[in-house]
Amino acid sequence: MAESVVTPAGASVGPGTTTGEQPVCLADFAAAARAVLPADVWDFVSGGSGAETTLAANRAALDRVAVLPRVLRGSGAPRLDAVLAGRPAALPVAVAPMAYQKLVHPDGELALAAAARGAGVPYVASTLGSCPIEEVAATGADVWFQLYWLRDRGLVVDLLARAEEAGCTALMVTVDVPVLGRRLRDLRNAFRLPAEVVAANLPGGRNDLAHQGTPGVSAVAAHTDAVFAPALTWSDLEWLRSETRLPLLVKGILDPRDAALATSVGADAVVVSNHGGRQLDGAPAAVTMLPEVLAAVDGRGEVLLDSGVRGGTDVLRALALGASGVLVGRPMLWALAAGGRSGAERALSLLAEELRDALVLAGCADPAEARELRALTGGHR
Ligand SMILES: Cc1cc2nc3c(=O)[nH]c(=O)nc-3n(C[C@H](O)[C@H](O)[C@H](O)COP(=O)(O)O)c2cc1C
Repeated sequence: MAESVVTPAGASVGPGTTTGEQPVCLADFAAAARAVLPADVWDFVSGGSGAETTLAANRAALDRVAVLPRVLRGSGAPRLDAVLAGRPAALPVAVAPMAYQKLVHPDGELALAAAARGAGVPYVASTLGSCPIEEVAATGADVWFQLYWLRDRGLVVDLLARAEEAGCTALMVTVDVPVLGRRLRDLRNAFRLPAEVVAANLPGGRNDLAHQGTPGVSAVAAHTDAVFAPALTWSDLEWLRSETRLPLLVKGILDPRDAALATSVGADAVVVSNHGGRQLDGAPAAVTMLPEVLAAVDGRGEVLLDSGVRGGTDVLRALALGASGVLVGRPMLWALAAGGRSGAERALSLLAEELRDALVLAGCADPAEARELRALTGGHR
């Protein structure tokens, strides 16, 4: 029997895991991806910021959430569908926005969006996509556009118009990246994008910066420093709210006071997230803030969770704590790296199978019922 593997991204792969065989859980894709990706790309995808304390905490905290199953409720064949951003989805899951997906597979965003379409889950397209938003939307997936606020407000307006024109059904603004977190692996690797991977939604501009190798510097961070607006305020969010009729999700909320403010500005949803441990190292595990954020939002909007979600049990944990659903990040890139579109399809179908099993075992007929379960954040007694 192979040894159990714990990846640097804190994805415990579980007992009896072998690499290179048919994946049976999302974390299995980590080993498969690591085997095919260049070391610096693996580090960029899987690493976190600083000492990676928050990255590790995300997993540890999810593992401490214990869910009390109900019994004898006749829930043998649960439904998995849910409402996310006010729209129907096949699972209470969306694919998290992630930059530069061609780094891990030549089909990049188009393959992952196609897999999301097949699974009936929303695909969140990053401002920093390596395929243009129009091509991603043309896959027919339910595409939400993720906005990074650029120094050039004219470009922000253009991006919004392009996303709406392309048929994106929601706007997710990410608010935890005034600057990129200090990702030591990328600094040590002098990480830069290969020539064929570009910020396809930002033609021209300072894209050259992302390709320049300088010892001790992350070219991706240098690029974002040059183009991202570092000093946004709540009035910018109010402006954004007034600019679009799309459902507005605010991603990167941890403090319940910010959740309340986002809601009062008219956000339809907040995503409780520490960016997968890639921004402020030392920030709390996202799941630990979920109860307080739910209390602050108090039913005035949806609350989603990301950061560390690795399977159906984690989706159940988030639901039981009261979330409407989750975003899944790195496992989707690992699956894309390992198997292209079919790898990503396999990852999403595993997630659906795991969620079905978790719901049956918890005595729930659907995700909505799971939100009535009791969850103990302090761990397993
Ligand atoms: C390689 C990579 C690129 C990312 N790029 C973006 C991005 O462009 N926009 C964004 O809002 N979040 C981005 N994120 C953060 C994810 O949306 C998400 O918050 C995080 O990955 C969730 O944690 P998980 O990977 O543990 O599931 C990125 C994450 C990774 C791993």
